[in-house]
Amino acid sequence: MVLAKKYVVVTPFVGEPKKSDFDIVQEHLPALKDGEFLAEAAYLSVDPYQRMKIGNAFPCDMIGGQVARITESKNKDYPAGSWIMGHLGWRTHTIVNPEEDAKRCAQKPFLYRLPDFGDLPVSLGLGVCGRVGNSAYFGFTQICQPKPGETVVVSGAAGAVGSHVGQIAKILGCKVIGFAGTDDKCEWLVKELGFNYAGNYKTVDIAQFLKESAPEGVDCYFDNVGGELSSVVISQMNQYGRIAVCGAISSYNETIAEKRRATMLQPFIVGKQLKIEGFQVNRFAERTQEGVIQNLQWVKEGKLKYKEHIFDGFESAADAFIGLFRGVNTGKTLVKVN
Ligand SMILES: NC(=O)c1ccc[n+]([C@@H]2O[C@H](COP(=O)([O-])OP(=O)(O)OC[C@H]3O[C@@H](n4cnc5c(N)ncnc54)[C@H](OP(=O)(O)O)[C@@H]3O)[C@@H](O)[C@H]2O)c1
Repeated sequence: MVLAKKYVVVTPFVGEPKKSDFDIVQEHLPALKDGEFLAEAAYLSVDPYQRMKIGNAFPCDMIGGQVARITESKNKDYPAGSWIMGHLGWRTHTIVNPEEDAKRCAQKPFLYRLPDFGDLPVSLGLGVCGRVGNSAYFGFTQICQPKPGETVVVSGAAGAVGSHVGQIAKILGCKVIGFAGTDDKCEWLVKELGFNYAGNYKTVDIAQFLKESAPEGVDCYFDNVGGELSSVVISQMNQYGRIAVCGAISSYNETIAEKRRATMLQPFIVGKQLKIEGFQVNRFAERTQEGVIQNLQWVKEGKLKYKEHIFDGFESAADAFIGLFRGVNTGKTLVKVN
């Protein structure tokens, strides 16, 4: 009989998530039935959306994606030995019934077998060649619709999605300006990833930085953080600029009552005839493999670099999660289960 460990959220998150919001619970898994398989987690995904989508009834199982190996199977489409990406939650072992479990999961696609990554690590299935990569690929290309020579600004630029978006923009022939929370991150963006400029939003004057780095104005803005930083960027957009709103992490730990005010944007939206569109990567679920294969190809060609911030051991997941809101990570945050 397999003994599984799982994370349970015992109390709603108030402000920044705390270790005491979580408990680790053990449970024995029953024998497999027809149509099921047993998945053993190798990496857990740690993502900002988990702060927002945890649900209303507590205690509840922690949601989240994982890359796992199938160790036993009674499902011919998912044979033992194969690797999967699945939204199975933060747990070490899971019995999966693909059709039944998919109905309960809000994240789409719920489950798929990983393509062959060759010599590359399977953890990429949660990052650059997974949901994060597809958020960057589809969110940027479909919503911003960038053209060669245009100027693109990315916030949260040294994170998983942001670092990826900036590199796609370079691949497509755009000029790219990123904002991130430390000088080291900014140096990485420019020296390693080829961003044209990167500014530390905690220390620079955003408006002045943009005036100097993009005197021609901004055509596309990929927004991961929201708040006043975004208001300043939006105020410097060009006519018919496009804004993809991917996330608003600067607000995730605030209650409705605490939400900060940002500059009035309507005059800029009207005056510059801007198009602002939010998206959720689920929208592109039917095209998942297209995005994964494109990103994998760019990685193999050396056009797309990635960084993984890997926390070691199942027990480190809460720390990894808290770290997202403190800017601990550069690139994709993962937990190696061991
Ligand atoms: N729409 C979708 O389908 C979709 C899919 C994936 C992700 N997202 C969103 O995309 C954004 C990035 O996600 P990710 O997975 O790539 O995470 P990430 O950027 O790798 O990690 C979060 C980063 O956010 C920054 N941050 C934290 N608090 C901040 C604040 N108050 N102001 C500005 N920046 C702050 C930190 O970097 P600094 O050091 O730079 O502050 C931190 O490293 C999030 O908003 C997430 O919810 C949306």
